[in-house]
Amino acid sequence: MSPINNVAVIGASGNFGTPITQALQASGFKVTIVTRETSTTVHPPDISTVRTEYTLEALTKALNNQDAVVCVVGPGGVPLQKTFVDAAEAAGVQRFIIDDFGWGPDARGFPEFDAIHAIRREGWDYAAKKAKDNKNFTWTGLTTGNPIDWAMKKFPLMGFDISKHEAIIYDQGKERFTGTTLEGIGQAVVGTLQHPEETANRFLKVQSIQTCQNELLDAFERITGEKWKVARMTSKELIEKGKEENKACVGGWVLKLAVSHLYDVGQGRGMVAPSRKEADAELLGVKEESAEDIVAKLLG
Ligand SMILES: NC(=O)c1ccc[n+]([C@@H]2O[C@H](COP(=O)([O-])OP(=O)(O)OC[C@H]3O[C@@H](n4cnc5c(N)ncnc54)[C@H](OP(=O)(O)O)[C@@H]3O)[C@@H](O)[C@H]2O)c1
Repeated sequence: MSPINNVAVIGASGNFGTPITQALQASGFKVTIVTRETSTTVHPPDISTVRTEYTLEALTKALNNQDAVVCVVGPGGVPLQKTFVDAAEAAGVQRFIIDDFGWGPDARGFPEFDAIHAIRREGWDYAAKKAKDNKNFTWTGLTTGNPIDWAMKKFPLMGFDISKHEAIIYDQGKERFTGTTLEGIGQAVVGTLQHPEETANRFLKVQSIQTCQNELLDAFERITGEKWKVARMTSKELIEKGKEENKACVGGWVLKLAVSHLYDVGQGRGMVAPSRKEADAELLGVKEESAEDIVAKLLG
């Protein structure tokens, strides 16, 4: 396999696309942003940007000369993965990073997410089939678990209201989960493209930290130098609320069940790998971060 230099990012202005694009550029890859003709999002002026229709023909043209494609579009764009794969293969792209950045093929999600996962999997399976039939086309999936620094800041329901110094601890606060920071997600993509042989045609397990709510609360209290106000809730209550809202077609269920995925007591749903040793973090160059490192980022 030849070394990878030219990399196109589809979805580069998003929550994860932004740090991925920055990491690729900082690591010396020649990055091109591929964006929708109708996109209103802002892209960095110093990166070459191709605005295109998302048809097979137009995308094939847009991906000409690219060695790799990173597909990191938001949920609305996930059904287009098959078209992206077809275009990448037709343009002679060697590596297609599929749109996982979540819980991977072994996810043990709640059944309410089955339909959403089925659409994601369709794109992944399609890339895998292409690679089977064409040895010049390869794929990688990056299973990153909880995007911990981004999610904790955005969603106080995860248990930490950073502005108020208040916490909600679910059950005993001991349920462990895998977190990958935005820096870790960016590095995972860089590491994949720097190790094309070892990362071909498989999912890799990424982690910056394996932690639990008690460790995070402890870090928040130590760094802020104060006791946080703590409310208690059970994961069972949160799951029930999420499922009721889903049945009643009331918004908010996605977040409740996504948070429950981490804290469903005794289930280990939020674990990507049992330990760092059994993840692919070392191969990808994703550094280990402590609860204090993550809390310092959030408070900073
Ligand atoms: N593990 C987790 O808990 C977790 C959390 C969040 C996200 N994720 C996953 O990470 C991936 C990226 O998510 P994100 O939050 O970074 O995405 P995002 O910010 O919602 O969107 C990223 C980009 O996708 C493009 N896009 C949006 N809607 C589109 C559409 N209908 N058709 C085509 N392109 C569209 C846009 O780029 P342009 O405007 O440039 O076209 C947008 O800036 C997804 O697979 C998502 O499911 C996982």
